[in-house]
Amino acid sequence: MNRQNLLLLAFEDEAILARSLAAALDCPLAFVQCHRFPDGELRLVLPKPLPPQVVLLRGLQQPNDKLIELLIAAPTARELGAVRLLLVAPYLAYMRQDMEFTPGEAVSQRHIARLLSQHFDALITVDPHLHRIASLDEVMPAGQGQALSAARLLGQWVAHQVPGALLIGPDEESAQWVSEAAAAAGLDFAIGRKLRHGDHQVQLALPDRDVQGRAVVLLDDMASTGRTLIGAAEQLLARGAASVDVAVTHALFNGDALPALRGAGVRHVWSSNTVPHETNAVSVVPLLQQAILQAL
Ligand code: R5P
Repeated sequence: MNRQNLLLLAFEDEAILARSLAAALDCPLAFVQCHRFPDGELRLVLPKPLPPQVVLLRGLQQPNDKLIELLIAAPTARELGAVRLLLVAPYLAYMRQDMEFTPGEAVSQRHIARLLSQHFDALITVDPHLHRIASLDEVMPAGQGQALSAARLLGQWVAHQVPGALLIGPDEESAQWVSEAAAAAGLDFAIGRKLRHGDHQVQLALPDRDVQGRAVVLLDDMASTGRTLIGAAEQLLARGAASVDVAVTHALFNGDALPALRGAGVRHVWSSNTVPHETNAVSVVPLLQQAILQAL
């Protein structure tokens, strides 16, 4: 049954995910028209009027302009008729800045989460980088944020592509996703440790496991510069791994990350479609569909 009192609202650069999600929800889809003025300001046009239930899809990769879009689009949506307004941000930015690493440093995680919670009735996201907190409830009103996980789907994909693979998480934070992926797929796993010295400088201590002749798949929540995965892949290949593949939830792949990963000897790179990218192999749409229907 077509849900006429529900609209999925999205932006053109996420049209593929939006169309797939609208089909799964069996609801109409419309796009926000977006114009950038010469001075950098944005002009947004939303469909008028809006139905009472609106789901706004906006992934927050390269987040700063997109946050401004949300700050303008959310109150406009309410003026145009939205009563229940959900934000689906498959990738939720600023979650790694979760403590005052340097005196005076903003704990952006808290502020961005709170800001979004003030504009939307609910937020649905996938594998937010929650490291020093256990759930989004610690940074927004309880129950307002829902964190889904692509780890099981990635684990099942990996098990299908590379039967018997050894899953390795490059750092302690990845343990939450790697252990879930391994359990879902019946695969063995191990976790390394990481010290980050700068945006592109990481020092990795991989687990003391015999990888000689083994097919290894590195699994993490995201690849940004790719340096974490590159460092891990180089060590594993030097230790005799038969192959190294990579699976991540969020394919940020900034700058030269993807060619550099391939240059380091990584065979396959797979990601979920939370961030539109050529490596997308696993769809989170069924997860999002279920969560949205529950949250409406
Ligand atoms: C942080 O620990 C995350 O889980 C990723 O490992 C990290 O953000 C990847 O960053 P990059 O690709 O820049 O090394």
